[in-house]
Amino acid sequence: MSTKSALITGITGQDGAYLSQLLLQKGYAVHGLLPRRSTDTLWRLRELGVDRDVRLHDGDLTDLSSLIRAMEASKAIEVYNLGAQSFVGSSWQQPILTAQVDGVGALNVLEAVRIVNPEARFYQASTSEMFGLIQAEMQDERTLFHPRSPYGVAKLMAHWATVNYRESFGLHASSGILFNHESPLRGIEFVTRKVSDAVARIKLGKAKELRLGNIDAKRDWGFAGDYVEAMWLMLQQPQADDYVVATGITTTVRDMCRIAFGHAGLSMDEHLVIDPAFFRPAEVDVLLGNPGKAKAKLGWTPKTSLEQLITMMVDADLRRLGAVKRLEPERLPGSRIE
Ligand code: NAP
Ligand code: GDD
Repeated sequence: MSTKSALITGITGQDGAYLSQLLLQKGYAVHGLLPRRSTDTLWRLRELGVDRDVRLHDGDLTDLSSLIRAMEASKAIEVYNLGAQSFVGSSWQQPILTAQVDGVGALNVLEAVRIVNPEARFYQASTSEMFGLIQAEMQDERTLFHPRSPYGVAKLMAHWATVNYRESFGLHASSGILFNHESPLRGIEFVTRKVSDAVARIKLGKAKELRLGNIDAKRDWGFAGDYVEAMWLMLQQPQADDYVVATGITTTVRDMCRIAFGHAGLSMDEHLVIDPAFFRPAEVDVLLGNPGKAKAKLGWTPKTSLEQLITMMVDADLRRLGAVKRLEPERLPGSRIE
């Protein structure tokens, strides 16, 4: 039997790294789109010990011809569109770029699939940010959308483009409406990792305070390693469809912080400073997902609690910052042992 081939856009991001690891474990040939950057962006793949096992193709979501070439070279039968300008906060400063990468970029990938191999299965990284100003206490696949940021607006275009290509051209195109998911590989700009990094620094005497914005916001947080399994499961179904992926539990930023400080034996009230600079022009006050359909149809359930997730992240940052000098790159929990 020939090896299945998958193409991942956003392979150097948090989810791209965990998905690469999962697909390699399942025996796939894993290909990734690599946008040109002036700095080293392979650190996450290295931390999971998979950087040498994936094949990278120069390309950018805004460049259709590079996507067509990546589709042709990879011979992918599964395409995961994870690439994005994914930081909500930046989307007010770079709304046009966000629309081009997150909105039109997804359309470019759909076009590349349609042109090169319309039989390939397609996954779109949709988001709970599309619910924004929530229209139901618990959000599911039938809840109306009301995005609150240029990021949410761009992602909503990509979401509907995915539905439209399924309906127009019969593509096996699925959309995963994923709620927030985190890990030790999370970018430092997102609130959980900002907190875990700051807690580790304060514990090690390298910092004194943590400055945050709206700590009353509530999020439904899960572990990225669990969530990439749901992405893969969606593409194994006979029919393409849309699924909410969430834990069904929502927590304030304040309480998430308390877990992190408590784990390090520190008092949050002594170190936390509220800084108006981190408030957003329009906030998503609360997100709470109903993963009932993913449970029933995909057999997917989250395995990691918020407590386990945040303590894992604080421990990883303590290890990273505590290191004086390393000869070998550090391996994180879940890493492949060579
Ligand atoms: P992430 O860590 O920010 O990764 C984003 C990836 O997209 C990076 O590999 C980045 O490459 C790449 N990228 C950015 N601009 C690109 C461009 N113009 N062309 C090609 N690639 C580009 O995000 P993540 O947390 O892994 O999330 C994965 C996807 O799921 C994103 O689409 C995100 O919007 C969506 N999502 C995330 C969550 C969550 O809670 N994590 C929830 C719902 C949906 P560089 O690093 O080189 O820029
Ligand atoms: N980043 C950040 N920094 N957020 C803060 C801060 C801060 O200093 N202080 C308070 N917050 C609040 C934000 O206002 C928001 O309400 C919440 O913490 C979470 O912020 P982020 O971690 O930046 O995530 P997000 O919810 O805006 O977006 C993430 O989840 C989406 C899915 O719901 C990203 O991963 C998106 O790409 C993803 O689509």
